[in-house]
Amino acid sequence: MKKRVLSTLLSLALVATLFAGCGGSAGGDAAADTGSTDTAAATEEAAPAEEAAPAAAATGQKVGVSMPTKDLQRWNQDGANMEEQLKAAGYEVDLQFAANDVQQQLSQVENMISGGCNVLVIAAIEGSSLGEALDMAKEAGIPVIAYDRLLMDSDAVSYYATFDNYKVGQVQAQYVIDQLDLDNAAGPFNIEFTAGDPGDNNAGFFFNGAMDLLKPYIDEGKLNVVSGQKTFEEVATPTWGTDVAQKRAENILSSNYADGTQLDVWLCSNDSTALGVENALAANYTGNYPIITGQDCDIENTKNMIAGKQSMSVFKDTRTLAAQVVKMVGQILSGETVDVNDTETYNNNKITVPSYLCEPVFADANNYKELLIDSGYYTEADLQ
Ligand code: BGC
Repeated sequence: MKKRVLSTLLSLALVATLFAGCGGSAGGDAAADTGSTDTAAATEEAAPAEEAAPAAAATGQKVGVSMPTKDLQRWNQDGANMEEQLKAAGYEVDLQFAANDVQQQLSQVENMISGGCNVLVIAAIEGSSLGEALDMAKEAGIPVIAYDRLLMDSDAVSYYATFDNYKVGQVQAQYVIDQLDLDNAAGPFNIEFTAGDPGDNNAGFFFNGAMDLLKPYIDEGKLNVVSGQKTFEEVATPTWGTDVAQKRAENILSSNYADGTQLDVWLCSNDSTALGVENALAANYTGNYPIITGQDCDIENTKNMIAGKQSMSVFKDTRTLAAQVVKMVGQILSGETVDVNDTETYNNNKITVPSYLCEPVFADANNYKELLIDSGYYTEADLQ
């Protein structure tokens, strides 16, 4: 008994050092070795404590965490951070990655329900594809938190925690506006767009956030989309695949820029797609290197930022989001009021899901040291 009290106290103490709310500095701890080569390189250290997660309800409770894939660095980090922080708070954790396979994710979530999970945390591959499992969860009275990506077309979603997705796009577009000094420069400047996966509800928010700021400049002719492709449907990247983005970029470059036309900007919604564009440019473009935007501060892209091959990336500290979700889990299970800061934006076609939006942060070659290394997100060695 004494031992149990001691271990609970130790867990609480650990959580206190790990936890930081959204919008604060970093929280959370090392990305465990999840088998991903990228993530294995990403060592994270505990950041200053801000607030302890409520751990009262943790004992004997199990949390199912369903992540879309191990193929992209960020989901490995998200999964590792969630597991680490939930365990530190005393929960049992069932963490699964679904290899970007919708059926696999569906059966993993169903197994979590039959395996006795008390709360589910789900980052969906395809937002609308988990209806059956969500109905099962609702029937069994299991609360569901949509993690980073909204779960669509279901009234079984209790809460949503993410970064402000619209703002991510705005940060990217504002960077372009500032760099080109669009309000003063004569232009015109040539721009192309690459957006995300149409099955991911976030992708439209990112694109619209950017397009809403850039459209006036396109309309007045200061920005010229040489390929003519400027609707979300035209510029989307199924699966967010680097190879998919690269193929499309190669086609655009060979059809529109092979004659020496200058490309000034390629606005990419995230880092995996930016990498595809950067690969395509390396082999198919010889003009002045364009401004390229991204999101996530993945290791490869951060290296490219340092090398001048990518201009910026939006930093979404996965430790911070995990800390917020661990806090939500605790609040749900102990019957406390759950912290949300947005009850209007995220309608999933069935309900408007109460959400907590974390602040995305701008990163580039000038501030990456402070943001990524000083905070313990990466080590210097990770970026060499
Ligand atoms: C996430 C991004 C990520 C993308 C591809 C989105 O839902 O919000 O951070 O880059 O998925 O995995």
